[in-house]
Amino acid sequence: MSTITREYSRSPAGRIAYVEGRYLPHGQACVHIEDRGLQFADSVYEVCAIQAGRLLDERGHLDRLERSLLEIKIPMPMERASLRAVMRETVRRNRIVHGLLYMQVTRGAYRRDHAIPQSAHRPTLILTARQLDFAVLERRRSQGVRVVSMPDQRWARCDIKSTALLPNVLAKSQAREQGAYEAWFVDHQGFVTEGSSTNAWIVTRDGILLTRPLSPDILPGVTRAGVLRAAREAGIRVEERAFTLEEAYAAREAFFTAATAWVMPVVEIDGRPVANAHPGEITEELASRYRAFAEAPVD
Ligand code: PDD
Repeated sequence: MSTITREYSRSPAGRIAYVEGRYLPHGQACVHIEDRGLQFADSVYEVCAIQAGRLLDERGHLDRLERSLLEIKIPMPMERASLRAVMRETVRRNRIVHGLLYMQVTRGAYRRDHAIPQSAHRPTLILTARQLDFAVLERRRSQGVRVVSMPDQRWARCDIKSTALLPNVLAKSQAREQGAYEAWFVDHQGFVTEGSSTNAWIVTRDGILLTRPLSPDILPGVTRAGVLRAAREAGIRVEERAFTLEEAYAAREAFFTAATAWVMPVVEIDGRPVANAHPGEITEELASRYRAFAEAPVD
């Protein structure tokens, strides 16, 4: 039995994945060995939070998926309405209450050639879903987490949600080795770009909420957009501008956002406490507003 099979034979029974038009037991779902996603990371993805069995910000994630695909010229694997049906069915078959839905679209399987094959119009669509322990997330949120900074060594199109995540994987692992939860990337000028899988925010000493403006340097986070909306509704002063690592060290509050974390307080950066090393007031206000949005009943 291969390591992978052994690993998945331990995964909870009944997990179902969607791959190339079929719902299959998670351990049996496969793609072709010449899939361009595997060979070239010629592929994009999305991660949506599931709350009370419902997909959060579904439209935002689908809009971004369509944009990522358009940017790298992969056709949508199916009409949006059909994709939505597959998303819901994957959540339903896995009986997820609180968790994550993962979607990946690769350019498909072809004889290996760097150039995109003329006939590349059969993308591979993969969906998986898994349960998350909400209590663990809430505990982490109540305490806050540590981050460490490192140089941003990624490509120049971080606005595309590509699965070419090697720099992110290495950065997150390095952070974990240093006892931190997340890595914050810093550009050549000393400005924080974003986290390895999250968007970065600080609150200045004057109470101004800062996050880097959208550009090819960062992923246009769906949670980021929701939190910006919440901040404006709450009357918080917000500026979308880049901030330096020095400004982050001197910040009154810091946090990051992602579908996997919602609003997560940062209490230490590079071993330096952020203010009194406790989640800040504005952070908590935004976290509770985001939670209220996530838990709001659907009309
Ligand atoms: N990551 N920046 C990067 C580099 C990311 O990978 C992510 C998301 C975000 C936050 O985007 P959103 O709010 O839309 O989740 C920002 C996902 C969760 C992941 O890779 O698992």
